[in-house]
Amino acid sequence: MESLKGKLVFITGATSGIGKSSAYAFAGQGANIVICARRINIVNEIAEDIKQKFGVKVYSFELDVRDRQHVLKAIASFPEEFKKIDILINNAGLGRGLNKFYEDNPDGWDEMIDTNVRGLLNVTHAILPGMIDRKKGHIINIGSIAGHEAYPKGAVYCASKHAVDAITRSLRMDIIDKNILVSSIDAGLVETGFSKVRFYGDEEKAKNVYKGLTPLTGDDVADAIIFCATRPAHVNIAEITLLAARQASATVVYREE
Ligand SMILES: NC(=O)c1ccc[n+]([C@@H]2O[C@H](COP(=O)([O-])OP(=O)(O)OC[C@H]3O[C@@H](n4cnc5c(N)ncnc54)[C@H](OP(=O)(O)O)[C@@H]3O)[C@@H](O)[C@H]2O)c1
Repeated sequence: MESLKGKLVFITGATSGIGKSSAYAFAGQGANIVICARRINIVNEIAEDIKQKFGVKVYSFELDVRDRQHVLKAIASFPEEFKKIDILINNAGLGRGLNKFYEDNPDGWDEMIDTNVRGLLNVTHAILPGMIDRKKGHIINIGSIAGHEAYPKGAVYCASKHAVDAITRSLRMDIIDKNILVSSIDAGLVETGFSKVRFYGDEEKAKNVYKGLTPLTGDDVADAIIFCATRPAHVNIAEITLLAARQASATVVYREE
């Protein structure tokens, strides 16, 4: 197992769920971290808590990954000691709505494509040149089983995660000679803020998604991310697919009454 002590890990979307769990998990292994999201107060609170708990270096800043100019500017102005990112976790993402395509709101499509696809491209585009110069790095994309299979009422979310899958595989080929790894972590049902965001704040609908089964947690996914980031230097984990124990696919879920 490779040590994470002193490594510099950049996690997008660290205010909630998988991103937040990952920030604590990496810091718990002695990594220094850079975290961001749009809700800057929460990012800063998490940064302070992590510094106190683990004594690692943390840089936190506000970022909307959809805004390419801001992404470039913010990343170019990282303090010197936070510039050499070893591991990038492209986690920021969302679902908006769960409706038949013809009844769905196109504004949600824009949000999903701009965040899950363009946002991931924006951040990768800003971080990758430094990794290429240093001939060292690891990019871990948070995909989804929605990137392996389409499900009803999820056309655009599934399309966005299929895009993440394609970007992961294509990028791996493009930088095969650069000593940079590219991996994807693709989970099924994880109980995070995801469903509340997907249903525009409707707690009842969000709760129903996980009814009758024990879903994965952000910590379960963070475990898989840590595994992926700590393999010996000659190993690349291309992809990890994680499902809740009672989930067989995106659509086949066994729920206790
Ligand atoms: N939960 C699941 O069942 C599941 C399954 C497979 C994959 N995933 C993927 O896992 C990733 C994390 O989701 P989660 O489940 O942990 O959901 P979550 O709890 O809602 O967290 C999403 C994070 O993304 C951030 N974010 C959203 N839009 C952003 C933007 N434009 N710019 C910067 N940050 C943004 C949010 O922060 P702010 O709101 O503060 O910006 C938040 O920190 C997503 O890519 C999601 O598609 C989730």
